[in-house]
Amino acid sequence: MSASSASGQTCPYIVLREPAAVRQVLHRPDDFGPANALIAVTPLSGPSLRVLQRARFALPPVLASNHSDSHAGIRKVVAGFFTPATVGAFEPRIRGIARDAAATAAGLLKVDGQVDLVQAVAANPPAIVMLELLGLPVRDLPELKAWSLDSLELFWGWPDPERQLELSHSAAAFYGWLRELVLEAVASPGRNLFGSLAEHGLSTPEICSLGYFLLIAGQETTTQLISTALFRLAEGSVGFAWKDAPSGTTARDLIRHVLATESSVPTWRRVAAEDTVLDDEHVPAGAEILLELTGNHSLSEQGPTAYGLAFGSGIHRCLGAKLAELEAAVVVQETAAALPGVSLAEPNPEWLRLLSFQAPRTVSVEL
Ligand code: HEM
Repeated sequence: MSASSASGQTCPYIVLREPAAVRQVLHRPDDFGPANALIAVTPLSGPSLRVLQRARFALPPVLASNHSDSHAGIRKVVAGFFTPATVGAFEPRIRGIARDAAATAAGLLKVDGQVDLVQAVAANPPAIVMLELLGLPVRDLPELKAWSLDSLELFWGWPDPERQLELSHSAAAFYGWLRELVLEAVASPGRNLFGSLAEHGLSTPEICSLGYFLLIAGQETTTQLISTALFRLAEGSVGFAWKDAPSGTTARDLIRHVLATESSVPTWRRVAAEDTVLDDEHVPAGAEILLELTGNHSLSEQGPTAYGLAFGSGIHRCLGAKLAELEAAVVVQETAAALPGVSLAEPNPEWLRLLSFQAPRTVSVEL
C-alpha cells in the first residue's frame, strides 16, 4: 500500500497496485464501497456548484456508486440491454457501422492526404451502438462526444477554477439535454432503458444520474480504447503489424494487449466503509483507495488473464465488457482493412490523462 505519489507529494489515496490486492478490495464490497466512484477528484468550487445546482444536476447513487440493496435489481434491468446474446446478435450491425466509418476515413485520406482516426473511426461508432442497444434516439453525437470529454475532465481531472467553471456549464447543458431525453423516452411506447428503469420504480433524478454515467461510460471509454489501440498499431510498438490487423484474431489480441497494458480505464476508486484490515494493515474508515486495475501485471501474468481486472470485478463489474471488446476489435479490423499501408503522421500526439481515463487525443495517419 502506498499513500505517496512518485513526485513525493502527498496523495489523497491509498494506492493499490498488486492485482491480488485489487481483486480482494473489489470482492469485499461491504468493507470497500463504491460511494466515491463518481466524486470529483478536484473539489467543486462555489461558482461551479451554483451552475450545477441551477441545472438541478444531481448524481444520487443508483448503479456504479450504489452500495445499497437496490443495486442488484437496477443492475439486472441495465444488464438486460447488454446480454451476451444481444451483443452477439448485434455484431453484423456493429461491423456495418465500423465499415462505413472506415470507408469515410479512407475517403478523407485520399482527399486530404491525412486523416485523424480518433474523429473518423473511434468517436462515433461506440456512441451509435450504445444508443441503438438502449433503444434511444441516435442524435446530437458531436455534442454528446464533447460533453463526455468535458464531464470526464470535470470529475476525474485537475482543472483550475476557470476551467472548472467552463466544464460545469458543459455538464449542466448535458444534464438538461439528458433530462429531456429521459422524459421523452419514458413516455415513448417502445422498449428502452429509461422506460424500463421507470417501470422498475426509479425517479427521474435517479434515471438521469444513471444515464449521466452510462451515456459517457458506455461509449467514450470504448472510443479511447480504440484510439490507443490504433495509435500503438500504427506506431508498430506493441508487436502487432498494421497489415495483420484485418484479421479478427490479431485485432482481438491487440485489444486485449492494450486492455492489459494501457487500458482506457486504468484505475477505479473505492472507499473504506468502516475501520478494516487489508493484508495485515489497518485501513481507517473513510480512507479512499485508488485501485490500479491494469498495467501492473508481472511478466509471468502476461497471458489471457493479464487484462482480467480491466473491467473491474465482483458485483459492480462492467456490464459493457463484452460489447466494448467486440466493438473495439471490429473497428480496428475494419479500419486496418480500409486503410492499408498507412503510417503515423504525428508520432507525438497530445494525450488525455485523467485519474481514471487515458487515450491519445488524435491519431493522425498518412500514406
Ligand atoms: C473499454 C471500455 C470500457 C472499460 C475499460 C470499462 C471499465 C469499467 C470499470 C473499470 C467499471 C467499474 C467496475 C467495478 O467497480 O468493479 C465499469 C463499470 C460499468 N461499466 Fe464499463 N467499461 C467500458 C465500457 C463500457 C460499456 C461499452 C458499457 C455499456 C454500454 C459499460 C457499462 C458499465 C456499467 C453499467 C458499469 C457499472 C456496473 C455496476 O456498478 O454494477 N462500460 N466499467
